Amino acid sequence: MRIIVCEDYEAVSKKAAQMILSQITLKPNSILGLATGSTPVGMYKNLIQMNKEKVIDFSEVKTFNLDEYYNLPRTNNQSYYYFMHENLFNYININPANIDIPNGMTENIEAECDRYDATIKEAGGIDIQVLGIGNNAHIGFNEPTVNFEKGTHLVQLDESTIEANARFFNNKDEVPKNALTMGVGSIFKSKKIMLIACGEAKAEAIYNTVYGKVVPEVPASILQFHNDIVLILDKEAAKLLNKEDYKTA
Ligand code: GLP
Repeated sequence: MRIIVCEDYEAVSKKAAQMILSQITLKPNSILGLATGSTPVGMYKNLIQMNKEKVIDFSEVKTFNLDEYYNLPRTNNQSYYYFMHENLFNYININPANIDIPNGMTENIEAECDRYDATIKEAGGIDIQVLGIGNNAHIGFNEPTVNFEKGTHLVQLDESTIEANARFFNNKDEVPKNALTMGVGSIFKSKKIMLIACGEAKAEAIYNTVYGKVVPEVPASILQFHNDIVLILDKEAAKLLNKEDYKTA
Protein backbone atom coordinates (compact mmCIF):
# COMPACT_ATOMS: atom_id res chain seq x y z
CA MET A 1 0.00 0.00 0.00
CA ARG A 2 1.32 3.41 -0.89
CA ILE A 3 0.11 6.11 1.46
CA ILE A 4 0.31 9.82 0.75
CA VAL A 5 -0.67 12.29 3.44
CA CYS A 6 -1.62 15.80 2.35
CA GLU A 7 -2.03 18.94 4.39
CA ASP A 8 -5.81 19.28 4.04
CA TYR A 9 -8.92 18.45 2.01
CA GLU A 10 -7.98 20.87 -0.78
CA ALA A 11 -4.58 19.24 -1.21
CA VAL A 12 -6.10 15.73 -1.15
CA SER A 13 -8.60 16.76 -3.84
CA LYS A 14 -5.89 18.20 -6.04
CA LYS A 15 -3.59 15.21 -5.65
CA ALA A 16 -6.41 12.76 -6.44
CA ALA A 17 -7.40 14.76 -9.55
CA GLN A 18 -3.76 14.73 -10.70
CA MET A 19 -3.73 10.93 -10.46
CA ILE A 20 -6.82 10.74 -12.69
CA LEU A 21 -5.18 13.20 -15.09
CA SER A 22 -2.07 10.99 -15.30
CA GLN A 23 -4.22 7.93 -15.95
CA ILE A 24 -6.18 9.58 -18.77
CA THR A 25 -3.06 11.14 -20.26
CA LEU A 26 -1.44 7.69 -20.48
CA LYS A 27 -4.62 6.00 -21.70
CA PRO A 28 -7.23 8.37 -23.19
CA ASN A 29 -9.87 5.60 -23.32
CA SER A 30 -9.45 4.70 -19.65
CA ILE A 31 -12.17 2.94 -17.74
CA LEU A 32 -12.74 4.80 -14.48
CA GLY A 33 -14.49 3.43 -11.43
CA LEU A 34 -16.07 6.34 -9.60
CA ALA A 35 -17.36 6.94 -6.10
CA THR A 36 -19.88 9.20 -4.40
CA GLY A 37 -19.97 10.65 -0.89
CA SER A 38 -18.73 14.07 0.17
CA THR A 39 -15.01 13.17 -0.04
CA PRO A 40 -14.59 12.99 -3.87
CA VAL A 41 -16.52 16.23 -4.51
CA GLY A 42 -13.34 18.35 -4.35
CA MET A 43 -11.54 15.98 -6.73
CA TYR A 44 -14.46 16.25 -9.16
CA LYS A 45 -14.29 20.07 -8.94
CA ASN A 46 -10.60 19.92 -9.89
CA LEU A 47 -11.37 17.59 -12.81
CA ILE A 48 -14.11 19.94 -14.06
CA GLN A 49 -11.64 22.83 -13.95
CA MET A 50 -8.95 20.82 -15.78
CA ASN A 51 -11.52 19.88 -18.43
CA LYS A 52 -12.51 23.54 -18.82
CA GLU A 53 -8.85 24.44 -19.30
CA LYS A 54 -8.53 21.58 -21.82
CA VAL A 55 -5.87 19.87 -19.73
CA ILE A 56 -7.94 16.70 -19.53
CA ASP A 57 -10.18 15.15 -22.17
CA PHE A 58 -13.00 12.77 -21.21
CA SER A 59 -14.29 12.15 -24.74
CA GLU A 60 -13.05 8.56 -24.87
CA VAL A 61 -13.35 7.76 -21.15
CA LYS A 62 -15.86 5.25 -19.79
CA THR A 63 -17.09 5.29 -16.20
CA PHE A 64 -18.71 2.82 -13.84
CA ASN A 65 -19.98 3.87 -10.46
CA LEU A 66 -19.54 1.79 -7.37
CA ASP A 67 -23.06 1.83 -6.04
CA GLU A 68 -26.59 3.20 -6.04
CA TYR A 69 -29.43 3.31 -3.54
CA TYR A 70 -32.14 0.73 -4.16
CA ASN A 71 -35.59 1.98 -5.08
CA LEU A 72 -34.69 5.67 -5.17
CA PRO A 73 -35.61 7.26 -8.52
CA ARG A 74 -32.74 8.71 -10.53
CA THR A 75 -34.54 12.06 -10.44
CA ASN A 76 -34.25 12.15 -6.63
CA ASN A 77 -31.47 14.58 -5.76
CA GLN A 78 -29.97 12.03 -3.34
CA SER A 79 -29.65 9.27 -5.92
CA TYR A 80 -26.07 8.61 -6.92
CA TYR A 81 -27.11 8.99 -10.56
CA TYR A 82 -28.20 12.56 -9.76
CA PHE A 83 -25.11 13.18 -7.61
CA MET A 84 -22.69 12.15 -10.35
CA HIS A 85 -24.38 14.32 -12.96
CA GLU A 86 -24.58 17.27 -10.60
CA ASN A 87 -20.99 16.97 -9.36
CA LEU A 88 -19.18 15.86 -12.52
CA PHE A 89 -20.84 14.52 -15.67
CA ASN A 90 -22.91 17.62 -16.54
CA TYR A 91 -19.75 19.75 -16.62
CA ILE A 92 -17.25 17.63 -18.57
CA ASN A 93 -17.02 16.42 -22.17
CA ILE A 94 -17.93 12.81 -21.42
CA ASN A 95 -20.15 10.89 -23.84
CA PRO A 96 -23.36 10.05 -21.88
CA ALA A 97 -23.34 6.61 -23.54
CA ASN A 98 -20.06 5.92 -21.72
CA ILE A 99 -21.54 6.40 -18.23
CA ASP A 100 -22.86 3.42 -16.30
CA ILE A 101 -24.32 3.34 -12.79
CA PRO A 102 -26.21 0.40 -11.25
CA ASN A 103 -29.94 0.85 -11.86
CA GLY A 104 -31.42 1.02 -8.38
CA MET A 105 -34.96 1.05 -9.81
CA THR A 106 -34.60 -2.33 -11.48
CA GLU A 107 -37.42 -4.84 -11.18
CA ASN A 108 -34.95 -7.69 -11.54
CA ILE A 109 -32.08 -7.24 -9.11
CA GLU A 110 -30.17 -10.35 -10.15
CA ALA A 111 -30.34 -9.51 -13.85
CA GLU A 112 -29.18 -5.94 -13.19
CA CYS A 113 -26.24 -7.11 -11.05
CA ASP A 114 -25.23 -9.63 -13.72
CA ARG A 115 -25.56 -7.00 -16.45
CA TYR A 116 -23.34 -4.61 -14.49
CA ASP A 117 -20.56 -7.13 -13.87
CA ALA A 118 -20.69 -8.33 -17.48
CA THR A 119 -20.53 -4.78 -18.87
CA ILE A 120 -17.46 -3.97 -16.79
CA LYS A 121 -15.81 -7.17 -17.99
CA GLU A 122 -16.68 -6.49 -21.65
CA ALA A 123 -15.22 -2.98 -21.36
CA GLY A 124 -11.91 -4.58 -20.36
CA GLY A 125 -12.08 -4.02 -16.60
CA ILE A 126 -11.55 -0.89 -14.55
CA ASP A 127 -8.21 0.86 -14.94
CA ILE A 128 -8.46 2.96 -11.80
CA GLN A 129 -11.09 2.69 -9.10
CA VAL A 130 -11.70 5.68 -6.86
CA LEU A 131 -12.87 4.77 -3.37
CA GLY A 132 -14.05 6.65 -0.34
CA ILE A 133 -14.43 4.81 2.94
CA GLY A 134 -17.29 4.66 5.41
CA ASN A 135 -16.70 5.36 9.10
CA ASN A 136 -17.21 1.61 9.56
CA ALA A 137 -14.61 0.86 6.81
CA HIS A 138 -17.20 0.05 4.15
CA ILE A 139 -16.15 0.47 0.54
CA GLY A 140 -18.85 1.15 -2.01
CA PHE A 141 -21.72 -0.12 0.10
CA ASN A 142 -19.97 -3.32 1.20
CA GLU A 143 -20.89 -3.20 4.85
CA PRO A 144 -19.07 -5.11 7.60
CA THR A 145 -20.37 -8.66 7.33
CA VAL A 146 -19.33 -12.28 7.68
CA ASN A 147 -18.41 -12.90 4.03
CA PHE A 148 -16.63 -10.93 1.34
CA GLU A 149 -19.17 -10.65 -1.51
CA LYS A 150 -17.66 -10.87 -4.97
CA GLY A 151 -19.86 -9.35 -7.63
CA THR A 152 -22.46 -6.59 -7.74
CA HIS A 153 -25.22 -7.37 -5.26
CA LEU A 154 -28.03 -5.95 -3.14
CA VAL A 155 -27.08 -4.99 0.42
CA GLN A 156 -28.89 -3.94 3.51
CA LEU A 157 -27.34 -0.74 4.82
CA ASP A 158 -25.92 -0.70 8.33
CA GLU A 159 -27.68 1.42 10.92
CA SER A 160 -24.45 3.48 11.24
CA THR A 161 -24.39 4.12 7.48
CA ILE A 162 -28.04 5.19 7.50
CA GLU A 163 -27.23 7.57 10.33
CA ALA A 164 -24.10 8.91 8.58
CA ASN A 165 -25.97 9.49 5.32
CA ALA A 166 -29.07 11.01 6.99
CA ARG A 167 -27.33 14.43 6.77
CA PHE A 168 -28.09 14.44 3.03
CA PHE A 169 -31.82 13.70 3.48
CA ASN A 170 -34.59 15.57 5.32
CA ASN A 171 -34.53 12.94 8.03
CA LYS A 172 -33.20 9.48 8.80
CA ASP A 173 -36.41 7.74 7.74
CA GLU A 174 -35.94 8.97 4.18
CA VAL A 175 -32.56 7.21 3.79
CA PRO A 176 -33.03 4.07 1.69
CA LYS A 177 -32.44 0.86 3.61
CA ASN A 178 -30.86 -1.00 0.68
CA ALA A 179 -28.42 -0.40 -2.13
CA LEU A 180 -26.82 -2.10 -5.11
CA THR A 181 -23.04 -2.15 -4.87
CA MET A 182 -20.07 -3.61 -6.68
CA GLY A 183 -18.71 -6.40 -4.51
CA VAL A 184 -15.22 -6.43 -3.03
CA GLY A 185 -14.34 -8.94 -5.76
CA SER A 186 -15.27 -6.43 -8.49
CA ILE A 187 -13.38 -3.64 -6.72
CA PHE A 188 -10.36 -5.87 -6.25
CA LYS A 189 -10.20 -6.63 -9.99
CA SER A 190 -9.44 -2.96 -10.78
CA LYS A 191 -5.94 -2.52 -12.12
CA LYS A 192 -5.30 0.40 -9.78
CA ILE A 193 -7.17 1.61 -6.70
CA MET A 194 -7.07 5.10 -5.20
CA LEU A 195 -8.75 5.49 -1.83
CA ILE A 196 -9.30 8.99 -0.53
CA ALA A 197 -10.26 9.83 3.04
CA CYS A 198 -10.39 13.00 5.08
CA GLY A 199 -11.26 13.91 8.65
CA GLU A 200 -10.83 12.42 12.09
CA ALA A 201 -14.00 10.32 11.81
CA LYS A 202 -12.16 8.14 9.28
CA ALA A 203 -8.95 7.69 11.32
CA GLU A 204 -9.93 4.40 12.96
CA ALA A 205 -11.26 2.92 9.70
CA ILE A 206 -7.98 3.88 8.01
CA TYR A 207 -5.92 2.40 10.84
CA ASN A 208 -7.84 -0.90 10.56
CA THR A 209 -7.54 -0.85 6.78
CA VAL A 210 -3.76 -0.46 6.90
CA TYR A 211 -2.79 -2.55 9.94
CA GLY A 212 -5.82 -4.66 10.82
CA LYS A 213 -6.58 -8.28 10.07
CA VAL A 214 -8.06 -8.87 6.62
CA VAL A 215 -11.61 -9.72 7.60
CA PRO A 216 -15.05 -9.04 6.07
CA GLU A 217 -15.97 -7.19 9.28
CA VAL A 218 -13.52 -4.52 8.01
CA PRO A 219 -14.35 -4.54 4.27
CA ALA A 220 -11.54 -2.15 3.29
CA SER A 221 -8.93 -4.44 4.91
CA ILE A 222 -9.02 -6.62 1.77
CA LEU A 223 -7.21 -3.77 0.02
CA GLN A 224 -4.00 -4.84 1.81
CA PHE A 225 -3.80 -7.65 -0.76
CA HIS A 226 -4.09 -5.42 -3.84
CA ASN A 227 -0.80 -4.82 -5.61
CA ASP A 228 -1.45 -1.30 -6.93
CA ILE A 229 -3.24 0.78 -4.34
CA VAL A 230 -2.65 4.29 -3.12
CA LEU A 231 -4.31 5.94 -0.14
CA ILE A 232 -4.55 9.72 -0.26
CA LEU A 233 -5.33 11.07 3.17
CA ASP A 234 -5.45 14.32 5.02
CA LYS A 235 -3.60 14.65 8.34
CA GLU A 236 -6.67 13.88 10.44
CA ALA A 237 -7.56 10.67 8.62
CA ALA A 238 -3.90 9.60 8.91
CA LYS A 239 -3.46 10.53 12.54
CA LEU A 240 -3.27 6.95 13.87
CA LEU A 241 -0.71 5.80 11.27
CA ASN A 242 3.03 5.50 11.96
CA LYS A 243 4.94 8.30 10.28
CA GLU A 244 7.39 5.89 8.61
CA ASP A 245 4.52 4.23 6.74
CA TYR A 246 3.58 7.24 4.60
CA LYS A 247 4.98 10.02 2.45
CA THR A 248 3.85 13.58 2.88
CA ALA A 249 2.89 15.73 -0.08
C1 GLP B 1 -21.33 6.32 1.05
C2 GLP B 1 -20.82 5.69 -0.25
C3 GLP B 1 -19.37 5.29 -0.13
C4 GLP B 1 -18.56 6.42 0.46
C5 GLP B 1 -19.08 6.73 1.84
C6 GLP B 1 -18.27 7.80 2.55
O1 GLP B 1 -21.76 5.40 1.99
N1 GLP B 1 -21.59 4.55 -0.63
O2 GLP B 1 -18.89 4.93 -1.42
O3 GLP B 1 -17.21 6.07 0.51
O4 GLP B 1 -20.40 7.18 1.66
O5 GLP B 1 -18.83 9.05 2.37
P1 GLP B 1 -18.17 10.44 2.72
O6 GLP B 1 -17.14 10.66 1.68
O7 GLP B 1 -19.30 11.43 2.61
O8 GLP B 1 -17.62 10.31 4.09
